[in-house]
Amino acid sequence: MTLTPQQPATTASEEGSATALANPNIALVKYWGKRDEALILPWTGSLSLTLDAAPTTTTVRLTDAPDDVVLLGGRPLEGTARSRVTRFIDLVRALAGRDERVTVDSHNEIPTGAGLASSASGFAALALAASTAFGLDLDRRALSRLARRGSGSASRSIFDGIAVWHAGHDDESSFAEAVPAPGLELGMVLTVLDARAKSVSSRDGMRRTVDTSPYYPAWVERTPVELEEMLAAITRADFTAVGTIAERNAMRMHATMLGAEPPVRYWGPASVELLDLVANLRGDGLECYATMDAGPNVKILCRADAVDELATRILEAQPDIGVIPARAGRGARLITSEPGGS
Ligand code: DP6
Repeated sequence: MTLTPQQPATTASEEGSATALANPNIALVKYWGKRDEALILPWTGSLSLTLDAAPTTTTVRLTDAPDDVVLLGGRPLEGTARSRVTRFIDLVRALAGRDERVTVDSHNEIPTGAGLASSASGFAALALAASTAFGLDLDRRALSRLARRGSGSASRSIFDGIAVWHAGHDDESSFAEAVPAPGLELGMVLTVLDARAKSVSSRDGMRRTVDTSPYYPAWVERTPVELEEMLAAITRADFTAVGTIAERNAMRMHATMLGAEPPVRYWGPASVELLDLVANLRGDGLECYATMDAGPNVKILCRADAVDELATRILEAQPDIGVIPARAGRGARLITSEPGGS
């Protein structure tokens, strides 16, 4: 497998304020379980598709205020949600050797915390905006490592299209990078069955699975094999193999959770109906594959030129649900950055 050389993540190095945009990514080989909770080092590598829909846009501004202010959708965050962001900003302050407070102003186009990858786009945008505002000029790998400290899956939203996150064994070696996929044009339809925030966060769900599921060791043993199979399928531009491996891997991830005590189950009856629909559509010749994350919303992988037809067929069968059509999208990028005081 050839990997693209690292590109600089930023074109501007002005200090003081920066706005970045990042898209969500959906894993085709899942990340589920940490070997190091503080550094967010995963037990296994994973691979995802960054989408061209539902971005997070985040502005970070240095201020003279006594404390950080964190806004999501214009509203101040409190409690754990706020401290997750301020602890992340502490990391950026330490990297930059600076101590200014900031205002973080973040907007999601998709529901937050409903298993629609808002933490991936959120921490990818925050990593780029915050590091730029503090005058750091991180390359893509360093940015991926930084985003990982906010949310593991965010390490992959730094990159265009398909990205592999190498599990690594320490902070340095655990990063994502782009996987070239010539001839493989992927699309995805996200279904929105339930936009409410989930009751068990992915962080807690994966911890419980690692600590209590007797099936988790099998996941750690099998996932590297599936990741290699997936990379080989991508190199061959073999859509059928990519879809088959992705669907199987998602089911196996949920199987490990069902073995936890108490079981972790993010999917419900509406999700199962969609799994059946995907199988039926595939039987009818519309080649598509299902995947699910830490929420009930099923994401359906297809060829890029089949996205519109797939969205139409889903809505015909399930007129009351929401759908978000998407294709491969760009990694995190700066929208603006302005000079500020240091
Ligand atoms: C099921 O990246 O949200 O979406 O690192 O604890 O923030 P933390 O978890 P997070 O987990 C994502 C889990 C997943 C699978 C995946 O995206 O690979």
